[in-house]
Amino acid sequence: MACFFRRKIAAKLGRALQQSEDVFIPALSAVPVFRKQQSPDFKLSINTLRSSGVLPSSGDTQEQSEELANRLKQDSVVEDISAGNGVIHFKVNRKLLVEKMLEPFGKEDDHTFGLNSELFKTLKKGTTLVEYSSPNIAKKFHAGHLRSTIIGNFIANLKQSLGYNVIRMNYLGDWGMQFGLLGAGFGTFGCQEKLKQNPLQHLFEVYVQVNKEAAHNEDMMQAARDFFRQLEQHESEAVSLWQQFREITVDEYQRVYKRLNVHFDIYSGESFHQHGAQEVVQQLQSRGLLKTSETGAGVVDTSTDGDMSSVCAVQRADGTTLYITRDLAAAIDRKEKYNFDEMIYVTDKGQANHFNQLFHVLRALGHSWADRCEHVPFGLVRGMSTRSGEVVFLEDVLNEARNRMLHNMSQSKTTKEMDDPEDTAEKVGISALIVQDFKGPLHSDYKFDWDRMLQAQGDTGVFLQYTHARLCSLIRRNEGVGGFIFDPSLLLEPTSIIVLQHLLRYDEVLYQSSQDLQPKHLVNFLLKLCHLVASAHRELPVKGSSQEVAQARLRLFSGAGSVLAGGMRILGITPVDKM
Ligand code: ARG
Repeated sequence: MACFFRRKIAAKLGRALQQSEDVFIPALSAVPVFRKQQSPDFKLSINTLRSSGVLPSSGDTQEQSEELANRLKQDSVVEDISAGNGVIHFKVNRKLLVEKMLEPFGKEDDHTFGLNSELFKTLKKGTTLVEYSSPNIAKKFHAGHLRSTIIGNFIANLKQSLGYNVIRMNYLGDWGMQFGLLGAGFGTFGCQEKLKQNPLQHLFEVYVQVNKEAAHNEDMMQAARDFFRQLEQHESEAVSLWQQFREITVDEYQRVYKRLNVHFDIYSGESFHQHGAQEVVQQLQSRGLLKTSETGAGVVDTSTDGDMSSVCAVQRADGTTLYITRDLAAAIDRKEKYNFDEMIYVTDKGQANHFNQLFHVLRALGHSWADRCEHVPFGLVRGMSTRSGEVVFLEDVLNEARNRMLHNMSQSKTTKEMDDPEDTAEKVGISALIVQDFKGPLHSDYKFDWDRMLQAQGDTGVFLQYTHARLCSLIRRNEGVGGFIFDPSLLLEPTSIIVLQHLLRYDEVLYQSSQDLQPKHLVNFLLKLCHLVASAHRELPVKGSSQEVAQARLRLFSGAGSVLAGGMRILGITPVDKM
């Protein structure tokens, strides 16, 4: 594995400079492969050594790298050492590279490849609470909620794979005036039968109708206000209707999340924090932090100069609390209940200011752990619609992805041999959605494009699945040929070496994603892996090769397939074995 080589090179450097080998690890990285060009395996950054004080920061980097390179000797592990501008390149022994990289794939499928890397030793692996998805009951599930769902799931999967204790939380929009309207309008527009049959659809319809009605009918509006007041005062009839809406919605969401392979440990929501929100207002008041604005609202000064040039409203003039007040209470409650070491909120970038204010007020209240809360913002998706129009429900997107994929698959003959083509189409369709979403920086907006994301060629989720299925089929067809032993000297072709060089980077890529919480590093790594595997597949046939060569090649392909599958799972994709 990559660690083995990094250690060896670091030890060599440590001896040359009479320092602990550990100081060199952060300066060493695997060199990204480029097409078919032969490249060295690792590079050492002189600048990193300068900034960590290992090398003097004065002087010429070129000279420093040459001088250091001259002091290093080749050995049985490191075959070649050369100095470039500000870097030293290392090429490791080819046979050893093959042997070490493919060692883990001998016995059972190894799903831990790269995950136990020493790169992760410095991480503080405590409890991470990740809050994601968080749709609003009776309202639309828009593209932003889909993004939050898959991004949050990725972050939770990644942290979990690296050994963090992860708590997955869904914070539902389950409180507010929309329930006044729903409660008041359900008698007129609602139907228990329809609610049971198609809960999300029906609640949404009722909500739309009540809104329309209340816009011109003051009695309806008044009834909505009354109903919401009854709810806030915990009157049992109102509460039980609300509860029914909430339970039905959660059940329904759970069913759909399952299709996405997403789950939550906790379904929380705004409704849990009405009382806490009032308490927060009192705490702010007793600390002298609550000011009254011109309109009579309760606000906290969040300006740097204390001149009220920016404020955060926490209470309406009528004394009721707001979205942010409930978030304040929720954060404090979570800290008390779960004692997290870090908390991550995943929402669209439109809420960046909301979270800045949230963290600001938490700090003002003396909660220094607010520094360990983070908002992961993402950009807008344009044009997410289905054949039947605008997307209102998550399920519509999943169905459309599945149906379109099923249609594409019906063109291919292998579909007929599948046990459950619908299930395969579903998994491949979802992986297309995920890869399209994760390819770029999360912060960027992007245009939703069914045709492009479902292409089998090019950088898509379909291509990932296709490559995985192809590798599985190769291994299936050659069952009995592979074995525990293989001869590394039969895998020295450039096409095979380049795959292994690429695998050297896997732990670094995971590390990078764990630092900036961006899935693009992992996605692009896997796409590249698939391209390299496609070349290897062409140039290194198994069929028709001698038993030894076939064995060695199968080991290469099963290693690549296993890393691919592991990476896909972290992204939230379920790899398919056939397609
Ligand atoms: N329900 C909110 C919305 O749909 C998202 C909640 C985000 N999380 C939070 N703690 N405020 O916009």
